[in-house]
Amino acid sequence: MTLVTRVATGATAALLGLVVALSSATVPAAAADAATLTGIVLGVGADQAQRTVTWYSSADTAQKVQVVPTEQVVNGEFPADPATFDAVGGANVSGGRFNRHATITNLKESTAYSYRVGADGNWSPVYSFKTRSFEGDYDFLFFGDPQIGSSGDVAKDQAGWVDTVNVATAANPDAELLVSGGDQVETAGTETQWDAFLAPDGLRQYPWVATIGNHDVGSKAYEQHFTVPNTDRSGPLYGNGNPTSNTSGGNYWFIYKDVLFIDINSNSYATSQGGGGDAAHVKYVTDVINQHGNEAKWKVLVFHHAIYSPAAHAQDGDAKLRRVDFPTAFSSLGVDLVLQGHDHSYSRSYLIKNSEKANPDEQPGAAEVTAGPGGVLYITSNSASGSKYYDISAPKTDQPSSGAGNGPDPLNPSTYWYNSVQNQEHVRTYVKVGVRKDRLVVENLRSGTCAAPNAAVEKGLSCDNDPAAKPVGSTVDKVTVHPYNGEGQALSVDVPNAAPGEFGWTIDGYNGLVDLGTAEEKGGDHFEAAGSINPIVVSDNRRSQAPWSISASVSDFSDGAKTFAGSYLGWTPKVVEAGAGARAGNPVVSGFDDKGQGLAKSRGLGSADQGHPKGVAKLGADLTLKIPGDVETGGYRATLTITALSS
Ligand SMILES: [Fe+2]
Repeated sequence: MTLVTRVATGATAALLGLVVALSSATVPAAAADAATLTGIVLGVGADQAQRTVTWYSSADTAQKVQVVPTEQVVNGEFPADPATFDAVGGANVSGGRFNRHATITNLKESTAYSYRVGADGNWSPVYSFKTRSFEGDYDFLFFGDPQIGSSGDVAKDQAGWVDTVNVATAANPDAELLVSGGDQVETAGTETQWDAFLAPDGLRQYPWVATIGNHDVGSKAYEQHFTVPNTDRSGPLYGNGNPTSNTSGGNYWFIYKDVLFIDINSNSYATSQGGGGDAAHVKYVTDVINQHGNEAKWKVLVFHHAIYSPAAHAQDGDAKLRRVDFPTAFSSLGVDLVLQGHDHSYSRSYLIKNSEKANPDEQPGAAEVTAGPGGVLYITSNSASGSKYYDISAPKTDQPSSGAGNGPDPLNPSTYWYNSVQNQEHVRTYVKVGVRKDRLVVENLRSGTCAAPNAAVEKGLSCDNDPAAKPVGSTVDKVTVHPYNGEGQALSVDVPNAAPGEFGWTIDGYNGLVDLGTAEEKGGDHFEAAGSINPIVVSDNRRSQAPWSISASVSDFSDGAKTFAGSYLGWTPKVVEAGAGARAGNPVVSGFDDKGQGLAKSRGLGSADQGHPKGVAKLGADLTLKIPGDVETGGYRATLTITALSS
């Protein structure tokens, strides 16, 4: 489907190909090939109107994703001509299998979709996802270190991971993203661990926002399993500086509603490793925020290696280095929230500004915090799978309580200076982030108790949780962050559906094929078929109240060399939703009835006169096709060209 826009003096006109199919022949499906399709995972796209789908194939064949509004799926059958997105990919570096991925674009808001991957004759099962309103508040969920395989028992780790995803999405069915804290698996190149990681059905229903951990980095499997938008896979963003080596890496960003997400490969932190180190990440984050920071209300960074964490990795040398390299840049760039993993233990930092506690008076565990300029909240996630937990470690009294130091909190000397809350019970948890127009709400929630599935505990680790007092779904910690609004007063206003001060038109929602089905023989001398065009939305908010009109004409119908005249198509225009002074055009009969030109000649779909009110109208038309009985059998198509005129 192509859209061509041309601008003429004193008028605007746009052409749109709208394909009308008429078929009276059954085409057999292509022969099935033997490709086995595995590891299907839904991913986030560049914005809320996109998704990616990634999978593995046993055969190196051309494949694609088909996507349709679920309401068009009847008895499990897709409509005849669904939206299709061709997949790309290649042979897996480790050999044996092939990776495929495609990006789904132009999704409509608040719509349930069904999708499948593969090729004609060899489709995967049908999966589904929902889009939500493209504006306003939403929740996303954040998961730390599933690290499937790290307990030594992949099946047990999988069971805990599946349970956390199920618990989290059941409790938050309207959550819009599942965000990774990294370390999806224990051993980067071990596909049985990836299969176990990809087991939860939720990973095909909610977009997974992949993050690379130190356990994911040592193979290309991470890059082969996940497709992420706006990816920068240049050398400096790889630990060893070499994207062609058998390692994964790179940074990416996307905007989902009011949040700019930036996801970085923290495996690269020192130039001595061969890559660009932390300086390359600071440059990347700076560039992305400079270019896109004003397109979103909130800035959220995601990376694996926590810099303000409470447990086994808190005093690591690389953590200390990042603690020097990152915080001042993040403060000056106006980052609101940093989501991290790696330490398999939960912590919520105080608001940190330039490597120091922003407000020395912020109290431990405060339920409400207000960020001054430069205040950044850092979250470290506990294990989401139960495969491995690290215990809280003690601060170092001989180190400073600022900068790279691991000194104690003067207000709570058993904890690190930078943390407001630290928690480890050896039960699975996940983090829920509520994005609101005037605040962020961050909550750590239990998705398990000491009971199985809880692999590390099943294998002998102690556990400290009373399931009556702290059951599945209970809150470990919750904080509301109020943003810095500058010296003045923050004002907020919600504008309902945009009404631009101009004239425009668009196809309403899903611009699928207009399928007239199989024509029926009528009266012994002709065939008839009927259908409706995809409605056209017209928006006119010009002060001039100048007239507008929408018209259309159809080409001849063709099937290879066989054709019949477009004049056999007629229509009855209608105003589906009134507004903008819209009046429906006159009905046009099929040329079969009156020997006229039908829609072969340009005809009015709708129009408004000078002085009409501002507003939005939706125009539709019922199509009637009558063709002579001597037209040859075939599946015919034509193009309906739509033209808008406004002065
Ligand atoms: Fe890690």
